[in-house]
Amino acid sequence: MVDIHAHILPGIDDGAEDMSSALEMAALAVESGVDIIVATPHSAAHGRQKNHCGPELSEALQSFRAAVNKARIPLHICGGMEIFGSFEVPELLMEGKMQGLNGSRYPLVEFAFTDYAAEATEILEEIIAIGLRPVVAHPERYVYVQEDPTLLNLWVGMGCLLQVNKGSLLGRHGRREEQLALALVERGFVCAVASDAHSPVMRTTWLKEAESLLTEEFSASTAKRLLTQNPLTLLKNEEIRLREPDWF
Ligand SMILES: [Fe+2]
Repeated sequence: MVDIHAHILPGIDDGAEDMSSALEMAALAVESGVDIIVATPHSAAHGRQKNHCGPELSEALQSFRAAVNKARIPLHICGGMEIFGSFEVPELLMEGKMQGLNGSRYPLVEFAFTDYAAEATEILEEIIAIGLRPVVAHPERYVYVQEDPTLLNLWVGMGCLLQVNKGSLLGRHGRREEQLALALVERGFVCAVASDAHSPVMRTTWLKEAESLLTEEFSASTAKRLLTQNPLTLLKNEEIRLREPDWF
């Protein structure tokens, strides 16, 4: 499987605390059937979790890859980031201070969880206007999406892709997130399911449960599409074609 959303780089954000936690997360990923993971530290226009592209991030990635190799964990680690959506983001993407998943035209973008629908839509429009295709991180967790899922008709109609968290599907973020996550898969809105892992203990890199759930509730081919095929297409920067969803 291919996990496109994981806070696995040690000591960069609120994810892996240190190298040993990061290595534990890597080992868990492999044990659960993941062979490629994207390190997506939080990145923002300003503030403590700015984490723009540059020597600090690339060195962290290099030393994590070296440690993973040394520990003989067969996991391929791609670079990326989880970008906090703000009006500065399109310019930061153009300047190369922010980047898409594995350097692709598919940036992973998250938004504030409450009262942000109008801003989010405008920011997504502007990212699309510069020729990129945003992957919206965990839309099922945003209160304004839960209250009005037709917002997703708009976003997907514009060309956005949606990434749902495995924890939402498994009911770990609450009932509303769970119901919406399942409805999004059922209606064909989801491009990828990812771990959004933060540690080896809570919110882990273990993807197998999501694979089992998708297989049982939907089908083996749905699990494969959302956990392997579509994520790989994004990382290869190839064009992704999804069938039309059952609109809200
Ligand atoms: Fe995240």
